[in-house]
Amino acid sequence: MTARPFEARSMGTALDRVDGREKVTGRATYAVEHDADLDEAPLHAWLVTSTTASGRVLRVDAAEALAHPHVVTVLDHTNAPRLADTEDRELAVLQDDRIGFRGQIVAVVLAETSEAAREGARLVRVHQEAADASVSLDGAETYAPEEANGGFEAATDQGDFDAAWAAAPVQLEQTYSTPLEFNNPMEPHAATALWRDGSLTLWDSTQAVHGVASTLAPMLGISQDRVRVQAPYIGGGFGSKGLPHGPEMAVALAARWADGRPVKLAVTRQQMFGLTGYRTRTVSHLRIGAEPDGRITALEHAAVGQSSAVKEFVEQTAVPARMMYAASSLRTSHRVAALDVAVPSWMRAPGEMPGMFALEVAMDDLAEATGIDPIELRERNEPEVDPETGNPYNNRRLVECLHRGADLFGWQDRPAEPRATLDGDWWVGTGVASATYPASFAPGNTARIIALDGGRYEVSIGAVDLGTGSRTVLLQIAADALGVDPEAIDLALADTDLPMATVAGGSSGTSSWGTAIAQTAQQFRADHGEHPDPGVETTTTTDGYPSTDHALHSFGAVFAEARVHRLTGEVRVPRLLGVYSVGRVINPMTARSQLLGGLTMGLSAALFEDAYQDPRFGHVVTQDLASYHVAAHADVRDLQVEWLDDVDELATPMGSRGIGEIGIVGTSAAILNAASHATGVRVRDLPATPDVFS
Ligand code: MOS
Repeated sequence: MTARPFEARSMGTALDRVDGREKVTGRATYAVEHDADLDEAPLHAWLVTSTTASGRVLRVDAAEALAHPHVVTVLDHTNAPRLADTEDRELAVLQDDRIGFRGQIVAVVLAETSEAAREGARLVRVHQEAADASVSLDGAETYAPEEANGGFEAATDQGDFDAAWAAAPVQLEQTYSTPLEFNNPMEPHAATALWRDGSLTLWDSTQAVHGVASTLAPMLGISQDRVRVQAPYIGGGFGSKGLPHGPEMAVALAARWADGRPVKLAVTRQQMFGLTGYRTRTVSHLRIGAEPDGRITALEHAAVGQSSAVKEFVEQTAVPARMMYAASSLRTSHRVAALDVAVPSWMRAPGEMPGMFALEVAMDDLAEATGIDPIELRERNEPEVDPETGNPYNNRRLVECLHRGADLFGWQDRPAEPRATLDGDWWVGTGVASATYPASFAPGNTARIIALDGGRYEVSIGAVDLGTGSRTVLLQIAADALGVDPEAIDLALADTDLPMATVAGGSSGTSSWGTAIAQTAQQFRADHGEHPDPGVETTTTTDGYPSTDHALHSFGAVFAEARVHRLTGEVRVPRLLGVYSVGRVINPMTARSQLLGGLTMGLSAALFEDAYQDPRFGHVVTQDLASYHVAAHADVRDLQVEWLDDVDELATPMGSRGIGEIGIVGTSAAILNAASHATGVRVRDLPATPDVFS
């Protein structure tokens, strides 16, 4: 059966986070806090990393470390347990002597205490042979990959771009860039691992327990049912915990060595800048051909990104340009350079974040070139159907978001000319940008419902709540799908012993898991009726829900006010507003938090976030929160979010679409557009630090 839409009773209400009390009272157990589940004191692991970008490990001299009274062993490529499969070089840690980037794991120290492990790591001497390394995207050789992250085609070409561009009365050609950005969740990547009787148990800080098990098991040469992964609480991830990274394999190998004794590993903040993924730098070359009235006739988005020679990652930067605006000729492409650097990965809205930054600043450039108001320009380029597929949009409400935002923000009072308002020492301006995110849905999720005594139900699915509120929202979905109150449901999550769930990523979690729960609830009622005998159960797996003959995307409009100091170039953002169309909002409180968090992260990217690479070794030297700046409380002023009244039952039976990522999309562009309007200085590279305005 396929799930059907169902009545919203709890959905749409601001149910308090069901795990809020555990979290604020410190009773929630994170990845290295599972001592109560262990029957033996754990060993503590500390990672030793390479100091050369390319080459090989000649010898790991562990003598001094092993002389430390509390150090138990030092594992390196000569004595670590062997993997059955070493194809994935990011995960095949300690398997050979090759060094792929500076910061790669080359040894793991195990000790009786965390302090001794750390001291032991300091005492390990790693003799390395350096080879020539290519560590900078500037001037690097690039190649065209087979596909981009998310399975997207790497390049597309519709219509005759060259002819349309040549014939266009208005031609805009510009380059826009975003720097290396790091996810930096509050809880570092961490795990407790126990290898016993040929099976591995991991308490992991991950966005996908089944994903970790299915990735690690074959590499470890054991069947997936011998890997149990649990992630009851997670202190954020923003995508960096969406896929397993080297440290998870390091702790698994350490546990295998320790055979029977648990091992704990918490990656340091500094190591998170090399071992747990990051957003690649992107350089977007845009060519937009338009009529004098602003209608786009030719659009080309050519994106270049940084990848790693260790493992390919292609940020899908040019993908949003394929569906955003009407353009009869549309060409997109991605190229990457395989550098001797750490492996990039997912960071909140991979593709949309840097891609829409480029496109939405370009739209402001075009507005300026044509003398058309930025909102009017976007309206004139609204497509009738999805430009890429020709499918109709089910619920494309971008223009309504723009209009509602303009009303709330007071857009009509905006002077058309830049550099028009000086308030004391501050230039003042306003800007707008569009946001979009696809309504992602991952099939194959399984949910189980068991009738309990007293009209209660147990609902189980291996989904994780990375801090977003999924636990609360899934409870609301389950309650409505079964037609009971949320209090009548025991919800079990985040364990591979529970039915299979896909990653909390791509803003697909609630949509995909919720559909599985809804489908199972409906099947349960069909099988067992309104008054089931305790113990009866139903399990189903989704094969798909969303309409395939419609284009399903969320949209939004972000408005920013920027004040730029006329002497120092300091930028402040007193107001940010996002108006969204995201389908039904299942919980207004947790949804608001997601959107506010996205706006904050977009603000942070606009003004602060930048990572400096050492030109010799390619590693990031700004590897802590003192030197890698993120927005602090004082930077975040008046943030407002609103959403349109929406129900999208073609996307999910709940009528919802994902909300985890759209808040960061377009936000940096809106802020830089506002700063340009304030100062008359156009900034096309993130972040907009004071030097660019002074
Ligand atoms: Mo998100 S970057 O897909 O976890």
